[in-house]
Amino acid sequence: MIIRKAILADVESIHDLVNYYADKSMMLSRSRSMLYENIRDFVIIEAEGEVIGAGALHVLWQDLAELRSLAVKDSLTGKGIGRQLVDYMLKEAKALGVQKVFTLTYQPGFFEKQGFCIIDKESMPRKVWTDCINCPKFPNCNEICMEINIV
Ligand SMILES: CC(C)(COP(=O)(O)OP(=O)(O)OC[C@H]1O[C@@H](n2cnc3c(N)ncnc32)[C@H](O)[C@@H]1OP(=O)(O)O)[C@@H](O)C(=O)NCCC(=O)NCCS
Repeated sequence: MIIRKAILADVESIHDLVNYYADKSMMLSRSRSMLYENIRDFVIIEAEGEVIGAGALHVLWQDLAELRSLAVKDSLTGKGIGRQLVDYMLKEAKALGVQKVFTLTYQPGFFEKQGFCIIDKESMPRKVWTDCINCPKFPNCNEICMEINIV
């Protein structure tokens, strides 16, 4: 397995992976346009040339970044791939000087194991909601907000 930053040629695979779960209402869908524009946020894990996991770290402010679009191929969950992606992105956040990483998720148990704690969504800065406004679930979203301090 190789973990690396995504390149443009990965976009179709990331699109398939994320939207597979988005179709099951397990995460937010991502358009190709969004993926191309934000490709530098993405990390992937590949095995034998196939993208089997992906996630993104999106910087929002001087001290804050969001971990988003984390997905592992359905048949390969539970093998530590999600953890490797989170570890990679947290190291990347630290290297960038980010102090807090948050995520909005339906999988709090997974993120708790990676050291994240549940926080009140309302305590997040207004900038966080920019993405939410375009979500079909807004304003009745039941995603759980979690964060980790990385300093
Ligand atoms: C959530 C997801 C990313 C986890 O990835 P994964 O590769 O299956 O997880 P890992 O194998 O790295 O698990 C790491 C640890 O978390 C635990 N874990 C994994 N998924 C969990 C869950 N949903 N709830 C509670 N614990 C979970 C594992 O048992 C493992 O525990 P251990 O440290 O005691 O061994 C993956 O299941 C997935 O893609 N789900 C669908 C999309 C999704 O919900 N993404 C979440 C972001 S919104």
